[in-house]
Amino acid sequence: MAISSTELELVIPTTTDGLTILEIARGISLFDAGDVDTIQELWTEFATRGDSESWYHFLGASKSGNLAGFACYGRRPLTEGTFDLYWIAVDSRHHRQGIGEFLLKHVEAQVQSRGGHLLIAETAGKPAFEPTRHFYLGSGYELEGRLRDFYAIGDDLYIFTRHFPLG
Ligand SMILES: CC(C)(COP(=O)(O)OP(=O)(O)OC[C@H]1O[C@@H](n2cnc3c(N)ncnc32)[C@H](O)[C@@H]1OP(=O)(O)O)[C@@H](O)C(=O)NCCC(=O)NCCS
Repeated sequence: MAISSTELELVIPTTTDGLTILEIARGISLFDAGDVDTIQELWTEFATRGDSESWYHFLGASKSGNLAGFACYGRRPLTEGTFDLYWIAVDSRHHRQGIGEFLLKHVEAQVQSRGGHLLIAETAGKPAFEPTRHFYLGSGYELEGRLRDFYAIGDDLYIFTRHFPLG
């Protein structure tokens, strides 16, 4: 379903986009097989239950009619108004063209429209994730926490946040 029309178009992905979403995820060298399996699990819940019933919400960015990136977000269990950005990924052939920022802005708008006041983006501290950390910092996120050796010895958890004004 198209929501706006600019060079990039926001879409709510439908079942036919599932393969492309997984292809994009598989094409991200930072993601391992476990990451792709998790994305597939969340996608299956979304595709089966639909946006109104699913705990996870997917958004897609379409460029010239082709899905070029996706984001998945949802409420953080046991909180009020706190959301997690579970995944965001842009087709590796289209990095650095503003697609990630486009998706992030739409996730933020949707979180706020669902009554959210806080969006959390967790990522890894490995050097390979430095571009991802730059992406969050450059998009106005604060590094609010860091858990040393969280993923593995020498691989920290970085917690980036964005707080939205209430009202
Ligand atoms: C992180 C990711 C989603 C960013 O998407 P993108 O479309 O390439 O990013 P954008 O073009 O919107 O970049 C927006 C800003 O983020 C920063 N940024 C993005 N990629 C960067 C990089 N490789 N190095 C440094 N800064 C970067 C810049 O400030 C950039 O603005 P600029 O290009 O005007 O300087 C994309 O690189 C990606 O899919 N990475 C692999 C998956 C991943 O790490 N996901 C997050 C964890 S789930």
